[in-house]
Amino acid sequence: MNEDSFKHLSKHILLELSKANDALAITGLYFLSKKIFSSTCSVFQFIRTHVFSRATTPDLIKTYGGKWAVVTGSSCGIGKAYAEELAKRGLNLILISRDSRKLQQTAIQINEQYQVEVDFISITFDGDAGKYDRLKIELDKRDIGILVNNVGVMYDYPQHFLDVPSQRLWELVNVNIAATTVMTHLILSQMVERGKGAIVNLSAGGSSKPTPQMTVYAATKAYIDLFSRALNYEYKDYGITVQCLLPFYVGTKFSKISSKPGKLIHFIPSAECYASHAICTLGYSSRTCGYWLHSIQGCIVRAIPEWLWMWGASRLNQALRRQAKERLKSKSSKSLKEVDNG
Ligand SMILES: NC(=O)c1ccc[n+]([C@@H]2O[C@H](COP(=O)([O-])OP(=O)(O)OC[C@H]3O[C@@H](n4cnc5c(N)ncnc54)[C@H](OP(=O)(O)O)[C@@H]3O)[C@@H](O)[C@H]2O)c1
Repeated sequence: MNEDSFKHLSKHILLELSKANDALAITGLYFLSKKIFSSTCSVFQFIRTHVFSRATTPDLIKTYGGKWAVVTGSSCGIGKAYAEELAKRGLNLILISRDSRKLQQTAIQINEQYQVEVDFISITFDGDAGKYDRLKIELDKRDIGILVNNVGVMYDYPQHFLDVPSQRLWELVNVNIAATTVMTHLILSQMVERGKGAIVNLSAGGSSKPTPQMTVYAATKAYIDLFSRALNYEYKDYGITVQCLLPFYVGTKFSKISSKPGKLIHFIPSAECYASHAICTLGYSSRTCGYWLHSIQGCIVRAIPEWLWMWGASRLNQALRRQAKERLKSKSSKSLKEVDNG
């Protein structure tokens, strides 16, 4: 190779390198601006959902076109608190749960406190399809503007899949999946006819990732998330709002965590605090944790790689299972002593 051709070649290589540099810089700039754009959108969405929404008080009856709201799993916990928020906004209620005594007490309390009509239906959600047919007859008598699919069950404590009794597996599927799906099917048609309505489905904060030792519970809640998102897309042109709520820990008997003051009090709100925040987000976000501190937790969970989440969840659930078994052991030895003494 003579000197001229060497010079020519190196000039050519330098030119190509600078072109590659430019291409890399443009690609980097594209991804950076995409990240900045999506982060800015998330911040705006956060402010809209958790700040602006609390500054307004929309008329839920007018917006969703019915005087009645149906809340499943409403004898206690989040369901009862959400029902009270709806009553505060003037909606009549149909409360649905298993325990008729608890339902009656709740109905009387809400009626006296908020001067709205409150009916209740005592039903155990299980695999019996005939129950839903009877429910439909009752529900078709009212103009239902809002349906809150809140009912849900969990494991007694974290367990490996094969250790979960099969009866509990059926309960998880029948309550967490079937009840929400069929209740929606029963009520959505009257909302579509009116061209207005809202359906609020309770999923769970961690459902975006698989959770070992809570395998089936987490999977049922992932179903609710996907179901709600697709349904919202399918029916938004018919005037229907479908919202998925994804709470993290809330202080109820379900989470077996009381909302006593403590270090985590703000991260584990009471059912009343959670519901008062969550209801404001209706109409502002179709998929939200419902409570601002839970939304921050949600961002962190999304950023954690799946392997790390599963490793952490396994360790935590192992510790929770050990604690629960010790509690059960000491309870049963206490009751044995009582029998011996008695
Ligand atoms: N609490 C949390 O930390 C948390 C976190 C994430 C997601 N969530 C979700 O939020 C929802 C509500 O949770 P929560 O903590 O308020 O629960 P909760 O306090 O245990 O209340 C559950 C309600 O469902 C009713 N219920 C249970 N099984 C039923 C069945 N087979 N048929 C009819 N009613 C039944 C219960 O009433 P009866 O016993 O009178 O029937 C009760 O009213 C659930 O979907 C849950 O998955 C909760």
